[in-house]
Amino acid sequence: MHNDIAHVLLSEEQLKTRIAELGELITNDYRGRTDIVLIGVLKGCTVFMVDLARTINLPLAIDFIATSSYGSGTHSTGVVRLLKDLDMDIAGKHVIIVEDIIDSGLTLAYLHAQFSKREPASMRICTLLNKPARRDPTVTLSVDYLGFDIPNEFVVGYGLDYAEHYRNLPYIGVLKPEIYTHE
Ligand code: IMP
Ligand code: MG
Repeated sequence: MHNDIAHVLLSEEQLKTRIAELGELITNDYRGRTDIVLIGVLKGCTVFMVDLARTINLPLAIDFIATSSYGSGTHSTGVVRLLKDLDMDIAGKHVIIVEDIIDSGLTLAYLHAQFSKREPASMRICTLLNKPARRDPTVTLSVDYLGFDIPNEFVVGYGLDYAEHYRNLPYIGVLKPEIYTHE
């Protein structure tokens, strides 16, 4: 285990098993559809996205969007900025937004509102992690595909970062508080 990690919250094996289940659910729900687009929210989604995509046994397209992030901190500013838009036109497509983690929910609420205007045939949300305790009271989004609800702790690994570190850890771990208490 990495020296900056207090403990492993979700092991490689737990992630793999749950993601296979999500892929099966999505495959069953979307069977027969041809215009499926997975939209990943960069950069946290990357590891989850490529593993999830390979468990969905249907033809699909992949695109990415980038929004403003936490910078080097551990708390959302609540202000969402679009850094990179989609390459594709999603009108008439079945969109599945793929996120690493829903915290306040402000990022997804913003993206959901933006994408709705582009008239996709349908839009659902798939997130690996969810911190229900942190949801902003103004956010009313429902999560259609969820990997795991987790406690209110700052986690890294499997795509998730702290100041761009730890994204390549193969598990989800809780960062030792002393790593970021100097903020
Ligand atoms: P939200 O807009 O507050 O829901 O923030 C969502 C984004 O914040 C996620 O896509 C992550 O990039 C980041 N984030 C939230 N919680 C964590 C965490 O515990 N570790 C790493 N990144 C996090
Ligand atoms: Mg993210």
